[in-house]
Amino acid sequence: MRCLLVIFLALPMTTWADAHIRVLAASCAACHGANGNSVGGTPVLAGLERNHFVLQMQAFKSGVRASTVMHHHAKGLNEAEIDQLADFFAVQTRVTSSSPMPLGSL
Ligand code: HEC
Repeated sequence: MRCLLVIFLALPMTTWADAHIRVLAASCAACHGANGNSVGGTPVLAGLERNHFVLQMQAFKSGVRASTVMHHHAKGLNEAEIDQLADFFAVQTRVTSSSPMPLGSL
């Protein structure tokens, strides 16, 4: 009985946390593409090693790593959010473009 109660209490918490991270991740999509698969000049986040992700975000936050825009985004996130975003992007599949190289690009 007690076990059931724990499940009922834990369930909405997990879904809420998951939804929160998805909303945060969606705000990164404007520059980093859907699920972190950037199509522009910004780094691809999909499949990024989680420790690398966390270290970069902390470096943007503290100013150790110079950035054009990321210090703004990193400062708005707390440690738990950065950890969960690292987990989220680490499991996204990295999509590589299958289009041929444009002529004259070599
Ligand atoms: C306005 C565009 C923009 C948005 C929105 C944005 N980023 Fe970035 N991101 C960049 C750019 C540009 C860089 C390269 C560093 C720089 O110049 O700021 C970068 C770099 C990064 C890096 C470093 C990757 C590496 O391998 O070095 C991480 C991690 C990152 N962003 C995560 C995020 C996350 C998480 C979000 C959403 C909360 C986000 N970004 C939102 C533009 C953006």
